[in-house]
Amino acid sequence: MLTLNNGVTMPEIGFGVFQTPPDETRIAVGEALSAGYRHIDTAAAYGNERGVGEAIRGRDDVFVETKIWISDFGYAETLHGFEKSAAKLGVDQIDLLILHQALPSEFDRTLEAYRALETLLADGKVRAIGVSNFMVDHLTRLLDTATVVPAINQIEVHPYFTQAEVRAFGEKHGIITQAWSPIGGITFYRDSGHTSTLQDPVIGKIAAAHGRTPAQVMLRWHLQQGRSVIPKSTNPKRIAENFDVFGFDLTAEELAAIDALDTGKRGGPEPTAVTLANFGMPIPEA
Ligand code: A2P
Repeated sequence: MLTLNNGVTMPEIGFGVFQTPPDETRIAVGEALSAGYRHIDTAAAYGNERGVGEAIRGRDDVFVETKIWISDFGYAETLHGFEKSAAKLGVDQIDLLILHQALPSEFDRTLEAYRALETLLADGKVRAIGVSNFMVDHLTRLLDTATVVPAINQIEVHPYFTQAEVRAFGEKHGIITQAWSPIGGITFYRDSGHTSTLQDPVIGKIAAAHGRTPAQVMLRWHLQQGRSVIPKSTNPKRIAENFDVFGFDLTAEELAAIDALDTGKRGGPEPTAVTLANFGMPIPEA
């Protein structure tokens, strides 16, 4: 468990459902719950909150995290965004609600959206609030006006893109870094001819030394550095494998060897370039 900056506890491993098709989400989340996951990370923009809701119905032991998409930024819009997500998830209260991206070109709207999160927190509609894909500049501008320090910042972090600067900023301000694409499965690397983290020889050697898989070693690397992770898979074997990461420890040298794999190149979209036009993906109403 990780303790957020407002005292709320959050299971460090969340099950991620980015790009999990809506009609497969209930089953994948069901597999994750069977494997022991008690934290699910979804988003309005993934179009699969309903599937998550179906899988968690009737349970009160699952920490649910979801995200407000940029098209719902603005004070009233974000309050409404909460209502839409809560209805799809079938819950009255969301454990962790975060802004999916900063909207750098319209940062005032980003700040208004965050102000709505603060209201939802004060009203007990959400238990914690945070952000995603915020870089140091975005966090600095947010902290200038925010009354509540975000509990988490969910960003791309894996051995090939370690984001030391934004993580250090978060640590200084009590913001937990949550890693998306924690095992570096993001397509960019597979399609670019770049070695995949899963086939990386340094990670492979460490995995062999511990009798573990490369994915387990990468997840351990995050956890030992205090990060939350949201591995995703639709394969039951890999869903279970990614949760089975508690029986071993990497050495300081092994952690440093993985840190040294950083390429400085992000696999995902550039957060400073997000606009409503280039990221205006429609949100499925299903
Ligand atoms: P699959 O759903 O077939 O398991 P990331 O979240 O780091 O981007 O990685 C997700 C990708 O990595 C998915 O394509 C997923 O495919 C794959 N994946 C997830 N867990 C593992 C694992 N333990 N070993 C190998 N590949 C994995």
